[in-house]
Amino acid sequence: MVERISLKSREEREKLLKEAYFNVFMIPAEAVFVDLLTDSGTGAMSDRQWAALMTGDESYAYAKSWFNFYESVKSIMGMEYVLPAHQGRAAENILFSHFSKKGVIIPSNNHFDTTRANIEFFGGTAIDLVIKEGEDPHKIHPFKGNIDLNKLEDLFKKEAKNIPICMCTITNNTGGGQPVSLENIKMTGELCHRYGIKFFIDACRFAENCYFIKKREKEQENRSIEEIAKEVFSYADGATMSAKKDGIANIGGFIALRDKDLYDQLSESLILKEGFLTYGGLAGRDLEAIAVGLKEAITMDYLESRVGQIENFGEMLRQNGVSILEPVGGHAVYLDAAEIFPHIKRSEFPAQSLSAALYEEGGVRGVEIGSVMFGREDENGNFIPATMELVRLAVPRRVYTESHLRYVADVASEIVKNKNKYKGYRIVYESPFLRHFTVRFAPV
Ligand code: F0G
Repeated sequence: MVERISLKSREEREKLLKEAYFNVFMIPAEAVFVDLLTDSGTGAMSDRQWAALMTGDESYAYAKSWFNFYESVKSIMGMEYVLPAHQGRAAENILFSHFSKKGVIIPSNNHFDTTRANIEFFGGTAIDLVIKEGEDPHKIHPFKGNIDLNKLEDLFKKEAKNIPICMCTITNNTGGGQPVSLENIKMTGELCHRYGIKFFIDACRFAENCYFIKKREKEQENRSIEEIAKEVFSYADGATMSAKKDGIANIGGFIALRDKDLYDQLSESLILKEGFLTYGGLAGRDLEAIAVGLKEAITMDYLESRVGQIENFGEMLRQNGVSILEPVGGHAVYLDAAEIFPHIKRSEFPAQSLSAALYEEGGVRGVEIGSVMFGREDENGNFIPATMELVRLAVPRRVYTESHLRYVADVASEIVKNKNKYKGYRIVYESPFLRHFTVRFAPV
């Protein structure tokens, strides 16, 4: 769809930001000029997706649309059993209601925030074991999303009996949209299986990850994305997916599984929480849009333009002297707020300050991925910052043009030039889980 956008005046933006307690999630979308809050559900559907949507079969059970959806997922992931869900976190909720409980440990390269929250909600402990390069915003490495296999094996040696499942997020959203290599996925899968642990892939951005594998990994350049994806999933026992990303749909998700017993065990929870086995909280028309979207997401011309656009955006920011996480990831450019605002203490949330500044100065919305999202307090109430202080500028699929992104790069450049005028924030309200969505701030 083509949407009208308009830029509110500076006075209006200041007022809206204050009314939102400086949390950009709370700003009406209409008042945002370029919205880079997320690439999730915000893509523009293609002509073929809209056409498929009109053919949605809304029968309750085993609708025609279910079969189209199932065929599409199975042909890409090669897994026999599929449970649809209304979005990724619902799939996670169903999976972890089965696997997570007190005493259980679930490692990953980096868990995404909803994944971590679902694990912790059921009493388990979520552990991040990304390679050390993945924690340094300026280290160059082709696969910064890789799991540290030594750390993973050490953990397995000590705790295997408490680890029912290990995750791997592709691409690694929390760590900068960084890819995981085919080799790392293979070795993680093999290691898990040696210890009797199930290996699951958080597949939200699997197509972008496969594109990086094709471009960066030896001996993969002549293979199609489809072939690479098949191999990626061949090492896993299952996958969770938010179809709002590489399904290029506005809503939807699923769990894909190899094991019939596990499918049966999760089915009850699916029916209770989401809906019957063949629609899982989605309309038939959504299933149709996802079926087509998944296939479009693995085509090379789409991926060249998708990942190429993000790389160009990163280059514009670099040339404007804005510090970014390197190399640029698959779906977003991440601004390094700790470097951009060195005068703001970590406990006063430099990335929150940068995210508020982007809206105030240019009507641009990004998302804080720093100590608001991942900071913690220890038992004594001491502040423990997140590993990195980032503002993610996620680019919706097939929506913005180069000039929108150039505008954003120019806004960021102005902020960098006047950095000393920006101050930190303190939290005046927060919820115990996923606080970043509803948190309220006051300027320090
Ligand atoms: N896993 C990853 C890696 C994600 O990025 C997301 C969502 C989810 C799971 C959950 O999926 O939103 O469909 O429930 N990420 C969005 C984002 C919200 O902005 O990165 P969901």
